[in-house]
Amino acid sequence: MRDTGRIVRLAEQGRPPVRFLLNGEACEALAGDTVLTAMLLHVPALRQSEFGPEKRAGFCLMGACQDCWVWQEDAGRLRACTTLIAGGMKLLTAVPQGWPS
Ligand code: FES
Repeated sequence: MRDTGRIVRLAEQGRPPVRFLLNGEACEALAGDTVLTAMLLHVPALRQSEFGPEKRAGFCLMGACQDCWVWQEDAGRLRACTTLIAGGMKLLTAVPQGWPS
């Protein structure tokens, strides 16, 4: 995946790599990154707002605001700012088909 993310990593580049899928494309983060960091290294937003045309990229970054919920292909939603990235995660920036509305 081309890195067109909101975040640019400037330091701590020596941690082990973690590979995951984002919208079906292979991506890489570093061990110890949150899902929010891992995703925003590659895309400009975590998800579409459910209240309007805006996109969301997290707000509080400490598990309080609920702005960073994202979906997984084969599991439920997770809060991106308080979940560490793990190898093999299949993350989505859009609601998967069949998700209850
Ligand atoms: S950014 Fe606020 S809960 Fe994750």
